[in-house]
Amino acid sequence: MLGAMTDARFEAPNPRDTLDPAALRHPDSFKWTLYPEDVIPLWIADMDYPVAPPIVAALQDRLAHGLGYAQLLGDPALKAALSAKLAGQGLTGLPPEGITFLPGVVPGIYAAVHALTSPGELVVTMTPVYHPFHLAITDQGRRVSGVALRDTEGGYEINWAALDAASRGARLLLLCHPHNPTGRVWTADELRRLRDLVLARDLFVMSDELHADLRLSAEPFEAFAADPRVQSRTLTLTGPCKAYNTAGLGIGAMISHNAALVGRVRAAAGGLMGHESALSVTMWRAALQEGGPWLQDTLAYLRGNRDLLLEYVREHWPWARLHTPQATYLAWLDLRAHPRAGDMQAFLLDEARVAVHDGPVFAHEAHKAQYQGFIRLNFATSRELLQEALARMNRAFGEAGM
Ligand SMILES: Cc1ncc(COP(=O)(O)O)c(C=O)c1O
Repeated sequence: MLGAMTDARFEAPNPRDTLDPAALRHPDSFKWTLYPEDVIPLWIADMDYPVAPPIVAALQDRLAHGLGYAQLLGDPALKAALSAKLAGQGLTGLPPEGITFLPGVVPGIYAAVHALTSPGELVVTMTPVYHPFHLAITDQGRRVSGVALRDTEGGYEINWAALDAASRGARLLLLCHPHNPTGRVWTADELRRLRDLVLARDLFVMSDELHADLRLSAEPFEAFAADPRVQSRTLTLTGPCKAYNTAGLGIGAMISHNAALVGRVRAAAGGLMGHESALSVTMWRAALQEGGPWLQDTLAYLRGNRDLLLEYVREHWPWARLHTPQATYLAWLDLRAHPRAGDMQAFLLDEARVAVHDGPVFAHEAHKAQYQGFIRLNFATSRELLQEALARMNRAFGEAGM
């Protein structure tokens, strides 16, 4: 007891608890400046937390050494740290040319669609999904074969029959694992069935695993390409920007056991993408080498926010549906039972002064209407700001008849 009291006295305040909206509203912050000052921004996927101290120190040190080209053939220390991390997720035995760096993950999504499909061909997605998946398809003249996830009592599930039907005649599956915006982490059994399906339908796979380090439970993460049966047909994309809150310093990686597949994408789109920046390399290397404790603290805090949100929704909005996000700091809320479901995003902005992402954003044209009344809410802020946002939403819902 005495020990606990003594510890508490000397414990530093959690920097995630003491966020100052005035400081967050820096003119460079898209999240904090898109809407007027009185709006709490819970939209774009940045966390409001300060960057890990070892990353800041590494960047300061890097700045003292000029800003010439970094290792254009792939920074060896970054590659080694990334390979070790990927091996822990089942991606062992990668060939040296099987990892290539990108200026961000989205360029990798576009490049995969560009290199592995031809105009007019079908690309499969599971909706709702992070919107650049659909943009990468439609912007490049390919066609979306979108399959809606099923909302069950246990959470969002894959509609296997529909996915199989949608895969007929398609070239490529764009998988989001963990899945933005539902927060699903696909289980070993689901991954096995997905692998069976892509083998049966002869699909390439782009597995975007950017949120893998943001799992809110202790279970280990299994990469889609952990199974040798699908390694020759799979490109895995990852990066540091979600877990380490560094989206302003774009960098990502494209990974495959099939170095020729990576080579094919690089040949088709490498020149268009350009190279990763020197500071982004420094940042990712520091994150992988020294950012672990910061990430663990952040995950503990996010878990607290997620649980607070679940409890709040259960208690105050029994008419809403929210399944526990297993990963990410994003919550996918079904508010279709509310009288203002038809303009939910605008309603919350105007009446609650809270900015969220609108559900239809996460689907392609033909499926948008089915997500009207859903929102994606980013809960990676301080507990105080989250509570204030929920109280504002609660008042607005109440005044509008719920
Ligand atoms: C699944 C997914 N992929 C890619 C990105 C963006 O990656 P980048 O900023 O590196 O292009 C995001 C951002 O939220 C994401 O959720």
